Amino acid sequence: RIQSIDALEILDSRGNPTVRVNVRLDNGILGTSSVPSGASTGENEAVELRDGDPDRYGGKGVRKAVANVNDLIAPALIGADPREQAKIDHAMLALDGTENKAKLGANAILGVSQAVARVAAAACNLPLYAYLGGAGAVRLPVPMMNVLNGGKHADSGMDFQEFMVFPIGAPTFAEALRYGTETFHALHRLLASKGYATSVGDEGGFAPKLKSNEEACDLIVKAILAAGYEPGEDIAIALDPAASSFYEDGKYRLSRSGQGEKTAAEMTALFKDWVTEYPIVSIEDSHDENDWNGFKGITAALGDKVQIVGDDLLVTNTKFIARAVEEQACNAVLIKLNQIGTVTETIAAIDLCRKAGWGYVISHRSGETEDSFMADFAVAMGGGQIKTGSACRSERIAKYNRLLEIERELGAAAVLGR
Ligand code: PGA
Ligand code: ZN
Repeated sequence: RIQSIDALEILDSRGNPTVRVNVRLDNGILGTSSVPSGASTGENEAVELRDGDPDRYGGKGVRKAVANVNDLIAPALIGADPREQAKIDHAMLALDGTENKAKLGANAILGVSQAVARVAAAACNLPLYAYLGGAGAVRLPVPMMNVLNGGKHADSGMDFQEFMVFPIGAPTFAEALRYGTETFHALHRLLASKGYATSVGDEGGFAPKLKSNEEACDLIVKAILAAGYEPGEDIAIALDPAASSFYEDGKYRLSRSGQGEKTAAEMTALFKDWVTEYPIVSIEDSHDENDWNGFKGITAALGDKVQIVGDDLLVTNTKFIARAVEEQACNAVLIKLNQIGTVTETIAAIDLCRKAGWGYVISHRSGETEDSFMADFAVAMGGGQIKTGSACRSERIAKYNRLLEIERELGAAAVLGR
């Protein structure tokens, strides 16, 4: 039974405050979890409650969310059985009473939801992935490793936010991580040899002032080859342009790279060219979050050979995912626990993906903590794909290291990928 719940304000990987929650049972077992935070957030995401007090952290403090856990959520959940995840999550939804968790804050609610899952797993003497995923949770995810950061994640030359290496040909997770990491190191040497900066952005990818978005793809292909891998066979490319961040007044404005303005159809045409030129197998948020026609257009044009992923468009929300399935606006979903705010609702979103035969990618946020909850969650949900940054910055590596541990623990039972 839950004996106490308490929250505190901690810092994320960008030095912004976020919420950590401890849930303790009457037998002394403790579960802890921390909440991440995005920068290129979708406008329909659940509300991340911030204090707005300009005297603390530029208004980004989370003391209100912390107080909501300690003063409102905790009293309502004391005595509950932590194994009743859905019941506990629904109790918090009822306590909040709003459509988008504006009253308590999704950061408060998710912190409790994740910590409850953790403590329940510990009480059952199970690793978190086995507790949430059952005996069938043996599928490790292939990592999409974000080796070049642009857009809102870095002051670099790229309009597009994420250029990722995706080691689809690796036999195990450990090998996939090695393929991607060696490519990351090869890219480092390549950038240095060309006189480009090798400092990194929010997700640990390099952030050079490249001349164009294409140059990013060119360099990644060169790095894959330099690391000794076959582009498209061993390692493919995945993209997240995060197009909402450069969409203005009905146009896609590629201003950093000086590549002009494009319509939705011209964006689709650009990606169509890229798919023939580069080994691209997955494209996320190719269009603005309100440009449903743009998404439908690219899915119709490329959806049979490329994974078209909705992130800002769908915000891990069953309401939007159902519409996207109905309208064939994409064919895969990016899954972020904090976009929707409870473990239960996130699982419901994934259920919808499975029913539609869609892929789903469990994802970090650009602001992360050392908590590796999402690594266990990815194995529990078994989608075979994860997006959690490049091969540096410990808040990213924490997830990879946890997946290495899980793969070793599963031994011969472990499988990789979709
Ligand atoms: P965010 O970006 O965490 O800054 O929102 C991640 C993404 O767009 O996938
Ligand atoms: Zn995205």
